[in-house]
Amino acid sequence: MTTAKEIRSAFLDYFARNDHEVVASSPLVPQNDPTLLFTNAGMVQFKNVFTGQEKRPYDRAVTTQKCVRAGGKHNDLENVGYTARHHTFFEMLGNFSFGDYFKENAIELAWNLLTREYGLPQEKLLVTVYHDDEEAVDLWKKIAGLKDDRIIRIATSDNFWSMGDTGPCGPCSEIFFDHGEGIPGGPPGSPDEDGDRFIEIWNLVFMQFEQQANGDRLSLPRPSIDTGMGLERLAAVLQGKHDNYDIDLMQKIIQASAEMSNVASDGEFAVSHRVIADHLRSSSFLIADGVLPSNEGRGYVLRRIMRRAMRHAHILGAKDPLVYKLVPSLVDEMGSAFPELERAQSLITETLKLEETRFKETLGRGLKLLGDATDKLEEDEALPGDVAFKLYDTFGFPLDLTKDILRGQERDLDEAGFDAAMQKQKDAARAAWTGSGDAATDRIWFDIHDREGATEFLGYQTNTAEGQVQAILVDGKEVSAADAGTDVMIVLNQTAFYGESGGQEGDTGVLVSESGLKVIIRDTQKKENLFIHIGTVETGSVKVADVVETQVNSDRRDRLRAHHSATHLLHEALRQRLGDHVTQKGSLVAEDRLRFDIAHPRPVTEEQLRLVEKDVNDHIRINAEVDVHLTTPEEAIKAGAMALFGEKYGDEVRVVSMGGPDANKGAGQSYSTELCGGTHVKRTGDIGFVKIVSEGGLAAGVRRIEAVAGAAALDYVNEREQILSDASDVLKTSPAELASRVNGLVEERKRLEKELKETRKKLATGGGSDQAAEKVGDVSFASRLLEDVPPKDLKPMADEIKKTLKSGVIVLIAANDGKASIVVSVTEDLTSQFNAVDLVRVGSEALGGKGGGGRPDMAQAGGPDASKADQAIEAIKQFLVA
Ligand code: ALA
Repeated sequence: MTTAKEIRSAFLDYFARNDHEVVASSPLVPQNDPTLLFTNAGMVQFKNVFTGQEKRPYDRAVTTQKCVRAGGKHNDLENVGYTARHHTFFEMLGNFSFGDYFKENAIELAWNLLTREYGLPQEKLLVTVYHDDEEAVDLWKKIAGLKDDRIIRIATSDNFWSMGDTGPCGPCSEIFFDHGEGIPGGPPGSPDEDGDRFIEIWNLVFMQFEQQANGDRLSLPRPSIDTGMGLERLAAVLQGKHDNYDIDLMQKIIQASAEMSNVASDGEFAVSHRVIADHLRSSSFLIADGVLPSNEGRGYVLRRIMRRAMRHAHILGAKDPLVYKLVPSLVDEMGSAFPELERAQSLITETLKLEETRFKETLGRGLKLLGDATDKLEEDEALPGDVAFKLYDTFGFPLDLTKDILRGQERDLDEAGFDAAMQKQKDAARAAWTGSGDAATDRIWFDIHDREGATEFLGYQTNTAEGQVQAILVDGKEVSAADAGTDVMIVLNQTAFYGESGGQEGDTGVLVSESGLKVIIRDTQKKENLFIHIGTVETGSVKVADVVETQVNSDRRDRLRAHHSATHLLHEALRQRLGDHVTQKGSLVAEDRLRFDIAHPRPVTEEQLRLVEKDVNDHIRINAEVDVHLTTPEEAIKAGAMALFGEKYGDEVRVVSMGGPDANKGAGQSYSTELCGGTHVKRTGDIGFVKIVSEGGLAAGVRRIEAVAGAAALDYVNEREQILSDASDVLKTSPAELASRVNGLVEERKRLEKELKETRKKLATGGGSDQAAEKVGDVSFASRLLEDVPPKDLKPMADEIKKTLKSGVIVLIAANDGKASIVVSVTEDLTSQFNAVDLVRVGSEALGGKGGGGRPDMAQAGGPDASKADQAIEAIKQFLVA
């Protein structure tokens, strides 16, 4: 028997041999199409390659693409389990030509693969073509030798494939397998075509056009090929099964489900096993691609799928969570083709287990309520909408889960009544809404959220993603469009931009579109779960409903990631080094630094800071993966998570653990575990290096620590090095010698200052002799004019001179910055003749000052004009002889 694994590899190998590039499946959350809920075909990742907007280094490709059809336009959720070929998750095998080969080669490649490689009997195959595609008819005849009766012309949209309302499209040709007369059903296009006899296995799309929103259909730059073949269908055909759930791949999971639940896989409970197997696949792949259960958007579709599976586990009588136990069987089967499953295995397991554990709490009670309600109804009476709403609102039953239960009773549900009950609740929330802060502005956000729902944040996985414009605000008012030069606030249905929260600053970057639009985004804020892009339209114009690409400034984002993860490690290191009383009082995660405020009664010592810094860097170098998962707030706290300051929590919390296992903590617990919605590095090694740059008091009992990480740490260290090297250059030494050189200089300066003082003293006192004195009348008179001698030094100098002069009058004038200080000293024997105070006044007046003070033997004064020093001395001399 050919296994699904072999069929998959044979497909990829065949096209690789035929010069096709083997391209990995793109994620289930499309990053290049905001109108698609999930990737639902192989060509989604190549959308822009077909239109010529994007270039790839190859023009032939082959993929096996993960697809989910649930919750969106293509929604198979309700049928899964009950039919042979509906799945919420399937693999689409496809080959692609981007303007390289066209119809002829596509048909030839497909035909040869099916008949030669897979060995399908030619007579069991038939094809459809678009009704006027004569070229395709001729090619099928020529290449496959098919007769007219096996080429069916189909006029409907069944044979014209388009991705959606807009995008690449073209006529197609489908290949069918005939299971033979024993199976009921008619050929395609016939009234009983839905039977199981003729099964479509491969769709070859001859991509020729691009559908525009205005209805125009443009020709693609070059005709191209897009094909899609469901792996599960093909495997069924090759394994001789009529039911996709009977192929080896699905059976492995179904058997695991039977074993774990102890309920036979066939018979009465077959549907439940099939539902579980299918939903396990879609849930696991969605979680691996970053979707986590929530109450809005993609997360809610995931929740609906998970809960539907869980209800079927309940039907199987499972007392304990069951679905998560099947993850290993899935990883065994598909992990080698999709390594993301292996990487995310623990996240998938935990997420399923958590959801199942919590839903179990309400599932039983909800079922009881539903049972009581239906008991009271007539056999064909629909379930009232308010009961369905109560199940939804109080017991967490998604509407399709209730419908699935009622399906077994062939009972309808009053959906209009459900919608009315939902609306009533929304109206009540609206009436009760009071807002916070500036209520008038906040009201707008409430209204937009009410109308559009929450923004989906894709930025955990990617730095660029497309989003559709839902609202534009100019000057606080909603507008339908904005032109170049306008300051705008823009809300999108999904975005890669992080809105400021949890201390982490909002992202910056640009919004661009094919039409030449460019909006520079300077900040992103978050209100009412809406992400608000704040910026200015630089070129083009933006309109509501436009599709734009959100491009985050990724260098800045990397710096933010590094600082945020570093903050978590710092927090833990502080607690371990300073004690458990350390709690977070606030934090800022910026591009150039992190700031972390903690409750701690005294300064953190240098020594403690160095140890904390060392701990942080040691845990960075461990380079363990950063783990992110959801849990309940209670569980998180039990597991030692540190709650973030000022955050509000809903039903689930996001837990970020890092730093590897910690011997001081419980088994399986990481060094750091925090509740956090921020963006983080993948492994701690991505932080690079952390340097604490300051510590100080912020308020009583609160310390503020600042640090730099990653690229910002390198900037910081470089800056410091530059300072050192500049200083070393000036001092003509090496940075290593700098301290001793500076020390030497300080010592030398002290010595020089002392010497200078001595020298000045000597100078003033005439070098120890009285030669410097002159006779004015009978009196010995010594005067000196001194530059830059501090005024306070004048008196001691005068005393020195006195010692040598014995009898006389001494006048010292010092000039400092153009101002003068004057000291007059009179020896004791002359004080009865001359009063120093009088003399100093005479001098001071000549210097432009007024008076002065002192004793008869020593007086001091000042004056604003040192240039008059000579006049001052002359005036005193005159006074002495007068
Ligand atoms: N894109 C085509 C499909 O999904 C092949 O059927």
